[in-house]
Amino acid sequence: MRPFTYCVPTDIRFGQGTVSCLGEALGKYGRKVLLVYGGGSIKKTGLYDKVMEQLKGYEVTELPGIEPNPKIGSVREGARICKEKGIEVVLAVGGGSTVDASKAIAGGACYDGDPWDLVLDSSKVKAALPIADVLTMSATGSEMNPGGVISNPETKEKLEVNNPHLYPSLSILDPTILYTVPPKQTAAGTADIISHVCEQYFQPYDGAYIMDRLCEGVLQTAFKYGPAALKKPDDYEARSNLMWAATIGLNDLLSRGKGGEWSVHPIEHVLSAYYDITHGVGLAILTPSWMRHVLSEKTEARFAMYAKNVFGIDTGDTRKDAEAGIDRTEEFFVSMGLPKTLHEVGIGPEKFEEMAKEAVRTSRISWDAYVHLSPEDVLEIFRMCE
Ligand code: NZQ
Ligand code: ZN
Repeated sequence: MRPFTYCVPTDIRFGQGTVSCLGEALGKYGRKVLLVYGGGSIKKTGLYDKVMEQLKGYEVTELPGIEPNPKIGSVREGARICKEKGIEVVLAVGGGSTVDASKAIAGGACYDGDPWDLVLDSSKVKAALPIADVLTMSATGSEMNPGGVISNPETKEKLEVNNPHLYPSLSILDPTILYTVPPKQTAAGTADIISHVCEQYFQPYDGAYIMDRLCEGVLQTAFKYGPAALKKPDDYEARSNLMWAATIGLNDLLSRGKGGEWSVHPIEHVLSAYYDITHGVGLAILTPSWMRHVLSEKTEARFAMYAKNVFGIDTGDTRKDAEAGIDRTEEFFVSMGLPKTLHEVGIGPEKFEEMAKEAVRTSRISWDAYVHLSPEDVLEIFRMCE
């Protein structure tokens, strides 16, 4: 294991009915609340009313309309309101997009300048308002990590602000809230969980045995319960296991003792910056092609280990097992109703070269990823997905 630090200060309230502790738990962070939510699903599902019931006695200002792949415009608006109204705590009620926007808002509220500066340079985050959330869609792990991914349509950039000040202080995780998540989002969220774990699993360092086993456990959970949640949206066992898998998948635990840049996420972030597609959909399309592109004599042992410990594939032929594991991953995404090609989501080859360069420019994939990826490599991966 490599040396590491690990300090996650998030108060997690997990389980059915935990929204009922919001009123009491939020009080220690402030009474003046900015309530941030998305396009209205929380009003349709009745969650909004439950939250407002809990917020009796608080001074609440609302910021609705956070879009999937949240935009810097919403963040600027939120930060402005916080300053104007003297907001004390930012409460996100929504999925990863709403939580991410709320983090940038909380940082922007304590920054004397344009919040986009913080996205471009996370070290500029010197303070943030406390952040709380009631999670309605589980995938990103944002509820227990210090990252927020924000898009700037003017510059066609989708970048992460990541700073310890941005850990949520309080996250309410009630799996029953996930019952209404639409099938497409359930599938995309499962792909996102799988990708997060693969990004941390496929790293060059081999001495973190315990982390590999933890990763495989989370992967098995996502492969088992993703289809179950799709089949029966109100399956509590499936939703609760998936929900915690998502949180563990990206609460910084699985990368401890290993480290290294991710591979597929930086490429997907460019795709969704250019085409505004659903994050998990982009990952499902890209991941099998990335796996095939980086499979080599040097990497096949780890891919075979993945095939064996996650899918039980073990013929004794390392290369064949590695390939079978990749095929199983692709078949799984297709079985979840996710697209296999960029063509299926309306993306043609016109911008492949530009996006490939952008993925390398905005990340460390050319020198710190599992297998270093040049613009030519990324271009080839796009072509394989065509
Ligand atoms: O906007 P509303 O009306 O709430 O509808 C949302 C949205 O349309 C809907 N939804 C959410 N919960 C629901 C629901 N509909 C019915 N019932 C519910 N209970 O689902 C749609 C998608 O929501 P969104 O928040 O966009 O999804 P997700 O949680 O997948 O977040 C995706 C964003 O997170 C970023 C992605 O890039 C993307 O911008 N990521 C954040 C990360 C992080 N902070 O660590 C890491 C990830 O790798 C990722 O990049
Ligand atoms: Zn992701």
